[in-house]
Amino acid sequence: MKKLAAGNWKMNGTTSALTEVQALLAAHPAPACEMLLCPPATLIAQMATAASGSGLLVGGQDCHPKASGAHTGDISATMLKDAGASHVILGHSERRADHGETDALVRAKAVAAMAAGLVAVVCIGETEAERDAGKTLAVIGGQLDGSLPAGATAATLVVAYEPVWAIGTGRTPTLAEIGEVHAFLRDRLRGLIGDEAAAVRLLYGGSVKPSNAAEIFAVPHVDGALVGGASLKAADFGAIVAALSA
Ligand code: PGA
Repeated sequence: MKKLAAGNWKMNGTTSALTEVQALLAAHPAPACEMLLCPPATLIAQMATAASGSGLLVGGQDCHPKASGAHTGDISATMLKDAGASHVILGHSERRADHGETDALVRAKAVAAMAAGLVAVVCIGETEAERDAGKTLAVIGGQLDGSLPAGATAATLVVAYEPVWAIGTGRTPTLAEIGEVHAFLRDRLRGLIGDEAAAVRLLYGGSVKPSNAAEIFAVPHVDGALVGGASLKAADFGAIVAALSA
């Protein structure tokens, strides 16, 4: 399976940040892994134009479960697709925390994403209190069960394991802890979607940097990364792309 280096710009970046995309494409015109950047919605169309004909894919960071309607401020999967997106991040812990997103809502959004022809990058992860209480596998197993749309395939679904306490903190689980979760997720996915689970990309996310990327990517069942802060700079994200292409 092709590995996936995905970047989540979060609420960062205006037009001037597109120079980072040019620098990334100049340094990595044909990476061996898939390369995806998810900028703010305002930059999707421009980034898609800049990426056209290159190996760079562009994605959104959220979508509404409905295709259109009276939902002020929301963006539908159809609109993301129309703007040039191929993927959409769903259920990121910041959305779950800041906007009260439940597993059921994430699943509805994933259904909408698949219907619009987008790949859903579904995020799950435990809080520090949940890990300390020994509940990590129970929590992420429940999130996976509740967030996954019926009929998901390796072509329409990516799962990102992002421990909440590792996001933006510079802290990461041990390699053994990442391995435990990813093996668990592969197994749990098999129970949900059968043999197709073997080909679904399982990303690790949370403080992935050039300095730790290679060792994390060597962990079994880690098929790529979802990168926040380090995706904003072409040099950092490029180094992670290189680690994944090695
Ligand atoms: P981080 O964010 O790489 O800045 O820790 C990861 C994410 O939230 O996707």
